[in-house]
Amino acid sequence: QKAGHVSVVVVGGTGDLARKYLWQGFFQLYVSQVSGGNTFSFYGGGLSPSEQATPVLFEILKAVTCSKDVSEDRCAILKDQFLRLSQYRQLKTLEDYQELARHIEQQLQQEGMTEAGRLFYLSVPAFAYAGVAEKINSSCRPAGGTWLRVVLEKPFGHDYRSAQVLATELLGALKDEEMYRIDHYLGKQVVSKILPFRIENRKFLEPIWNRHHIERIEIVLKETLDVKGRISFYDEYGVIRDVLQNHLTEVMTLLTMKLPANVSNSGEVLRNKREVLSSMLPLGKNQAVVGQYQNYKTEVQQELNKTKEHVSLTSTFAAVLAHIKDAQYEGVPVLLISGKMLDERVGYARVLFKNDVFCLQSQNNVHCKPKQIVFYFGHGSLKYPAVLVSKNLFKPALKGGEWKEVTEHKDVDVLGLHISDYFVQTPTTEREAYAELIHHIFAGQKNNFVSTENLLASWEVWTPLLSALRASFPRIYPGGADNGDMLDIHLRGKEIRFNSEAVIISPDQAGG
Ligand code: BG6
Repeated sequence: QKAGHVSVVVVGGTGDLARKYLWQGFFQLYVSQVSGGNTFSFYGGGLSPSEQATPVLFEILKAVTCSKDVSEDRCAILKDQFLRLSQYRQLKTLEDYQELARHIEQQLQQEGMTEAGRLFYLSVPAFAYAGVAEKINSSCRPAGGTWLRVVLEKPFGHDYRSAQVLATELLGALKDEEMYRIDHYLGKQVVSKILPFRIENRKFLEPIWNRHHIERIEIVLKETLDVKGRISFYDEYGVIRDVLQNHLTEVMTLLTMKLPANVSNSGEVLRNKREVLSSMLPLGKNQAVVGQYQNYKTEVQQELNKTKEHVSLTSTFAAVLAHIKDAQYEGVPVLLISGKMLDERVGYARVLFKNDVFCLQSQNNVHCKPKQIVFYFGHGSLKYPAVLVSKNLFKPALKGGEWKEVTEHKDVDVLGLHISDYFVQTPTTEREAYAELIHHIFAGQKNNFVSTENLLASWEVWTPLLSALRASFPRIYPGGADNGDMLDIHLRGKEIRFNSEAVIISPDQAGG
């Protein structure tokens, strides 16, 4: 893309997401681009009047940090420049947006700059998307040949119908290629390594990456926190919409999609992901176990001012057994599991292979462990993101990484792993995941975003389950680290046992 001036507008620029992740990401973008041909203006937009919000915005901007390789002096200069390029603007009415567009154009003229593009990051509640998109469309479109990119955050609807309504509204204002739907899991380092890992090791993986050799696939995000403070959002959505329909589903498609000839070809990547979603059987009640932590009820009553009789049916835990109905994966159970207030914080995706256990001698015991590959997201006590490959499966390769031997480690044991080879990179945080995705948006690379078609394909899979659960009571679990023993999410073969109750789901019951 051609170099020139880029205007970045964060609508909701003093909100929580912007404060925690976005401005840091834009600062990193600025630092990486400052010596290239591009120049920048940054606008934090919001509903509050300027006098009130400007100090808040600048307090946030002053908190951005440089990476370790930038000297203190250089960092101070960069931060100073970044602050001078930034301003707050009230963005409430159509006139406010028109005024913003006039400001951008005047600035371009005065400074004699060519415009490269306009990036709007909508960090506002989803109900405001259509209205903001319409205002951008009618007053902030750049002249022909200059790009417009509009970034959206989940939730993208509540179910298939509402996602379709929202998508149609947005498509009335924006072109599909102008929309960047964020799933921050796609910015996580280890998640972005799934396709490169599969490609670089395809010689070993291709013969075993199928139903004849894969026992099951597990994609797990266990969290220890509750949802206090965000109950008004959470109670409407629950864990399936919050985590499974998006983050875990994206990881699943990366693990099971046909390998693209070129990982940077967005069209091909998104098409191959969609093929997986289209061959999934719609999910039904027999394929899910849902739970709610004990205190949730009280938290809802307090935060939403409900009476003591009020009962919420929202799930804070879900374990779901999915199936991909195609020649490669038919019959392979795909487990997606996530919950709040669980006994540990851990996130990973793993592929377990059939039969071929291998045994190791340790402390006079012989331990037999399954063969597996684990993409470890970097939570839990194994702090860093890593790709772990069972000993004697094969000797893995991955560009830019160093494979080392894992000896003893708590999480390695938890996962039932005995590993010899693993891949480590520097730790990633959610902040870095956002920074990574912001760089992709700037580069106009869409393969790590959610297209309209893929979004709807995913809702098509999840909606039948959500409808079936609408009137069901989730199982109550104690929640919290102290109650870890009582919370028993037990996976064995094709079964899930939850909270000591024998809830068994198997492919035979699929589709119910
Ligand atoms: C967010 C969800 O999208 O992802 C949160 O809204 C969840 O409820 C979070 O905790 C998990 O992301 P991470 O990066 O902390 O694993």
